[in-house]
Amino acid sequence: MKKSKISASMMCSNLVDLKETLEIFEKEQIEYLHIDVMDGTFVPNLGLGVDYIRGLRELTNIPLDLHLMIKDPEYKLSWIGIKETDMVSIHYESSFQVQRVLDWLKPYGCKRFLAINPATPVYVLEEVLDYIDGVNVLMVNPGFAGQKIVPSTIKKAAKVARLLADANRSDIEIEVDGNITPEHAFKLRQIGANIFVAGLSSIFKDDVRMLSKNINLFREMSR
Ligand code: DX5
Ligand code: ZN
Repeated sequence: MKKSKISASMMCSNLVDLKETLEIFEKEQIEYLHIDVMDGTFVPNLGLGVDYIRGLRELTNIPLDLHLMIKDPEYKLSWIGIKETDMVSIHYESSFQVQRVLDWLKPYGCKRFLAINPATPVYVLEEVLDYIDGVNVLMVNPGFAGQKIVPSTIKKAAKVARLLADANRSDIEIEVDGNITPEHAFKLRQIGANIFVAGLSSIFKDDVRMLSKNINLFREMSR
Protein backbone atom coordinates (compact mmCIF):
# COMPACT_ATOMS: atom_id res chain seq x y z
CA MET A 1 0.00 0.00 0.00
CA LYS A 2 1.54 3.32 -1.06
CA LYS A 3 2.19 5.76 1.83
CA SER A 4 -0.70 8.16 2.38
CA LYS A 5 0.29 11.84 1.93
CA ILE A 6 -1.45 15.21 2.37
CA SER A 7 -0.95 17.94 -0.25
CA ALA A 8 -2.28 21.18 1.25
CA SER A 9 -4.04 23.39 -1.33
CA MET A 10 -2.41 26.79 -0.94
CA MET A 11 -5.03 28.60 -3.02
CA CYS A 12 -7.29 27.96 -0.02
CA SER A 13 -4.92 29.58 2.48
CA ASN A 14 -4.78 33.31 3.15
CA LEU A 15 -1.73 35.56 3.10
CA VAL A 16 -2.49 37.04 6.54
CA ASP A 17 -1.98 33.66 8.26
CA LEU A 18 0.61 32.30 5.83
CA LYS A 19 3.59 32.12 8.22
CA GLU A 20 1.51 30.56 11.01
CA THR A 21 -0.05 28.15 8.51
CA LEU A 22 3.36 27.00 7.29
CA GLU A 23 4.61 26.56 10.89
CA ILE A 24 1.62 24.32 11.62
CA PHE A 25 2.22 22.39 8.37
CA GLU A 26 5.84 21.76 9.37
CA LYS A 27 4.78 20.65 12.87
CA GLU A 28 2.12 18.32 11.39
CA GLN A 29 4.61 17.06 8.76
CA ILE A 30 2.41 17.93 5.77
CA GLU A 31 4.12 16.21 2.83
CA TYR A 32 3.40 18.70 0.01
CA LEU A 33 2.11 22.20 -0.65
CA HIS A 34 -0.34 22.00 -3.57
CA ILE A 35 0.13 24.99 -5.86
CA ASP A 36 -2.66 25.59 -8.38
CA VAL A 37 -0.94 27.47 -11.20
CA MET A 38 -3.76 28.88 -13.33
CA ASP A 39 -3.38 30.88 -16.57
CA GLY A 40 -6.95 32.03 -17.24
CA THR A 41 -6.98 30.11 -20.57
CA PHE A 42 -6.75 26.42 -19.69
CA VAL A 43 -9.00 27.15 -16.68
CA PRO A 44 -11.30 30.17 -16.16
CA ASN A 45 -9.23 31.50 -13.28
CA LEU A 46 -5.87 33.20 -12.66
CA GLY A 47 -3.76 32.15 -9.72
CA LEU A 48 -0.53 31.37 -7.89
CA GLY A 49 2.16 32.51 -10.34
CA VAL A 50 5.94 32.17 -10.39
CA ASP A 51 6.51 35.01 -7.88
CA TYR A 52 4.27 33.24 -5.33
CA ILE A 53 6.22 30.00 -5.86
CA ARG A 54 9.56 31.76 -5.45
CA GLY A 55 8.35 33.55 -2.29
CA LEU A 56 6.95 30.36 -0.77
CA ARG A 57 10.29 28.58 -1.22
CA GLU A 58 11.89 31.33 0.89
CA LEU A 59 9.40 30.65 3.71
CA THR A 60 9.48 26.84 3.91
CA ASN A 61 11.30 23.71 2.71
CA ILE A 62 8.10 21.66 2.35
CA PRO A 63 8.20 20.21 -1.20
CA LEU A 64 5.81 21.69 -3.75
CA ASP A 65 3.10 19.85 -5.68
CA LEU A 66 2.80 22.07 -8.76
CA HIS A 67 -0.58 21.59 -10.46
CA LEU A 68 -0.04 23.24 -13.86
CA MET A 69 -3.42 24.32 -15.19
CA ILE A 70 -1.81 26.14 -18.12
CA LYS A 71 -2.17 25.81 -21.91
CA ASP A 72 0.87 24.46 -23.81
CA PRO A 73 3.00 23.89 -20.66
CA GLU A 74 5.87 22.47 -22.77
CA TYR A 75 7.02 26.01 -23.63
CA LYS A 76 6.65 27.37 -20.06
CA LEU A 77 8.43 24.80 -17.88
CA SER A 78 11.57 26.96 -17.62
CA TRP A 79 9.53 29.91 -16.28
CA ILE A 80 8.39 28.09 -13.15
CA GLY A 81 11.54 27.33 -11.14
CA ILE A 82 10.90 23.57 -10.84
CA LYS A 83 13.04 21.77 -8.24
CA GLU A 84 13.86 18.04 -8.10
CA THR A 85 11.95 17.75 -4.77
CA ASP A 86 8.75 18.89 -6.52
CA MET A 87 5.86 16.92 -7.97
CA VAL A 88 4.64 18.47 -11.25
CA SER A 89 1.22 17.67 -12.74
CA ILE A 90 0.77 18.33 -16.44
CA HIS A 91 -2.82 18.22 -17.71
CA TYR A 92 -3.46 15.68 -20.48
CA GLU A 93 -5.92 18.18 -21.97
CA SER A 94 -3.42 21.08 -22.04
CA SER A 95 -1.11 20.02 -24.88
CA PHE A 96 -1.25 18.25 -28.26
CA GLN A 97 2.13 16.69 -27.44
CA VAL A 98 1.67 15.18 -23.95
CA GLN A 99 4.49 12.64 -24.19
CA ARG A 100 6.87 15.42 -25.29
CA VAL A 101 5.90 17.56 -22.27
CA LEU A 102 6.57 14.65 -19.94
CA ASP A 103 9.89 14.04 -21.74
CA TRP A 104 10.91 17.70 -21.40
CA LEU A 105 10.04 17.55 -17.69
CA LYS A 106 12.53 14.72 -17.05
CA PRO A 107 15.73 16.86 -16.82
CA TYR A 108 14.23 18.76 -13.84
CA GLY A 109 14.42 15.53 -11.80
CA CYS A 110 10.96 16.15 -10.31
CA LYS A 111 8.18 13.57 -10.00
CA ARG A 112 6.07 13.68 -13.16
CA PHE A 113 2.29 13.38 -12.80
CA LEU A 114 -0.39 13.38 -15.48
CA ALA A 115 -3.53 15.24 -14.43
CA ILE A 116 -6.85 14.21 -16.01
CA ASN A 117 -10.13 16.14 -15.89
CA PRO A 118 -13.40 14.42 -14.93
CA ALA A 119 -14.49 13.69 -18.54
CA THR A 120 -11.08 12.47 -19.75
CA PRO A 121 -11.16 8.66 -20.09
CA VAL A 122 -8.76 6.60 -17.99
CA TYR A 123 -7.36 4.81 -21.07
CA VAL A 124 -5.32 7.93 -21.97
CA LEU A 125 -2.89 6.73 -19.28
CA GLU A 126 -2.06 3.56 -21.24
CA GLU A 127 0.45 5.22 -23.58
CA VAL A 128 2.32 7.27 -20.95
CA LEU A 129 2.90 4.79 -18.11
CA ASP A 130 6.64 4.80 -18.88
CA TYR A 131 6.84 8.57 -18.49
CA ILE A 132 4.92 9.22 -15.24
CA ASP A 133 5.42 8.73 -11.51
CA GLY A 134 1.80 9.52 -10.71
CA VAL A 135 -1.71 10.43 -11.84
CA ASN A 136 -3.65 13.45 -10.52
CA VAL A 137 -7.32 12.50 -10.81
CA LEU A 138 -9.34 15.72 -10.85
CA MET A 139 -12.58 15.11 -8.93
CA VAL A 140 -13.93 18.52 -10.03
CA ASN A 141 -13.54 20.61 -13.18
CA PRO A 142 -10.37 22.45 -12.10
CA GLY A 143 -9.88 26.12 -11.42
CA PHE A 144 -11.83 26.84 -8.26
CA ALA A 145 -11.77 25.72 -4.65
CA GLY A 146 -14.99 24.92 -2.80
CA GLN A 147 -16.65 22.99 -5.64
CA LYS A 148 -18.68 19.78 -5.30
CA ILE A 149 -17.24 16.45 -6.47
CA VAL A 150 -18.30 15.19 -9.92
CA PRO A 151 -20.02 11.93 -8.82
CA SER A 152 -18.62 9.78 -11.65
CA THR A 153 -15.04 10.49 -10.54
CA ILE A 154 -15.20 8.10 -7.54
CA LYS A 155 -15.74 5.09 -9.86
CA LYS A 156 -13.16 6.62 -12.22
CA ALA A 157 -10.51 6.65 -9.46
CA ALA A 158 -11.12 2.91 -9.01
CA LYS A 159 -10.67 2.44 -12.79
CA VAL A 160 -7.31 4.23 -12.57
CA ALA A 161 -6.18 1.93 -9.74
CA ARG A 162 -7.30 -1.12 -11.72
CA LEU A 163 -5.54 0.02 -14.90
CA LEU A 164 -2.28 0.54 -12.97
CA ALA A 165 -2.59 -2.84 -11.23
CA ASP A 166 -3.30 -4.62 -14.54
CA ALA A 167 -0.18 -2.98 -16.02
CA ASN A 168 1.87 -4.03 -12.99
CA ARG A 169 2.46 -0.35 -12.26
CA SER A 170 0.93 -0.04 -8.83
CA ASP A 171 4.10 1.90 -7.97
CA ILE A 172 2.55 4.85 -9.84
CA GLU A 173 0.98 7.15 -7.24
CA ILE A 174 -2.66 8.28 -7.36
CA GLU A 175 -3.44 11.85 -6.30
CA VAL A 176 -7.05 13.02 -5.94
CA ASP A 177 -7.79 16.72 -6.23
CA GLY A 178 -10.98 18.68 -5.63
CA ASN A 179 -13.63 18.52 -2.84
CA ILE A 180 -11.66 15.90 -0.91
CA THR A 181 -13.64 15.90 2.33
CA PRO A 182 -12.45 13.58 5.14
CA GLU A 183 -15.24 11.20 4.08
CA HIS A 184 -14.19 11.28 0.41
CA ALA A 185 -10.58 10.75 1.51
CA PHE A 186 -11.57 7.66 3.51
CA LYS A 187 -13.43 6.16 0.52
CA LEU A 188 -10.70 7.05 -2.00
CA ARG A 189 -7.99 5.62 0.25
CA GLN A 190 -9.85 2.28 0.17
CA ILE A 191 -9.93 2.56 -3.63
CA GLY A 192 -6.14 3.05 -3.84
CA ALA A 193 -5.46 6.80 -3.82
CA ASN A 194 -2.47 7.88 -1.73
CA ILE A 195 -2.07 11.65 -2.20
CA PHE A 196 -4.98 13.81 -1.02
CA VAL A 197 -5.33 17.49 -1.92
CA ALA A 198 -6.63 19.13 1.25
CA GLY A 199 -8.46 22.44 0.68
CA LEU A 200 -11.65 24.19 1.73
CA SER A 201 -13.39 20.81 1.98
CA SER A 202 -11.11 19.69 4.80
CA ILE A 203 -8.20 21.41 6.53
CA PHE A 204 -9.07 24.98 5.49
CA LYS A 205 -12.78 24.80 6.25
CA ASP A 206 -12.30 26.80 9.48
CA ASP A 207 -9.85 29.51 10.52
CA VAL A 208 -6.19 28.90 11.36
CA ARG A 209 -6.97 28.10 15.02
CA MET A 210 -8.67 24.87 13.86
CA LEU A 211 -6.00 23.97 11.28
CA SER A 212 -4.09 21.44 13.39
CA LYS A 213 -7.29 19.71 14.51
CA ASN A 214 -8.61 19.55 10.92
CA ILE A 215 -5.28 18.15 9.69
CA ASN A 216 -5.34 15.38 12.31
CA LEU A 217 -8.93 14.44 11.43
CA PHE A 218 -8.04 14.41 7.72
CA ARG A 219 -4.92 12.34 8.43
CA GLU A 220 -7.02 9.82 10.41
CA MET A 221 -9.54 9.45 7.57
CA SER A 222 -6.94 9.18 4.79
CA ARG A 223 -4.52 6.90 6.65
C1 DX5 B 1 -9.37 22.73 -7.90
C2 DX5 B 1 -8.05 22.82 -7.20
C3 DX5 B 1 -8.02 22.15 -5.84
C4 DX5 B 1 -8.86 22.79 -4.81
C5 DX5 B 1 -8.96 21.94 -3.55
O1 DX5 B 1 -9.16 23.24 -9.18
O2 DX5 B 1 -7.12 22.14 -8.02
O3 DX5 B 1 -6.67 22.17 -5.38
O4 DX5 B 1 -8.35 24.04 -4.47
O5 DX5 B 1 -9.74 22.59 -2.66
P1 DX5 B 1 -11.25 22.09 -2.33
O6 DX5 B 1 -11.13 21.10 -1.22
O7 DX5 B 1 -11.93 23.35 -1.91
O8 DX5 B 1 -11.82 21.52 -3.58
ZN1 ZN C 1 -5.11 21.40 -7.80
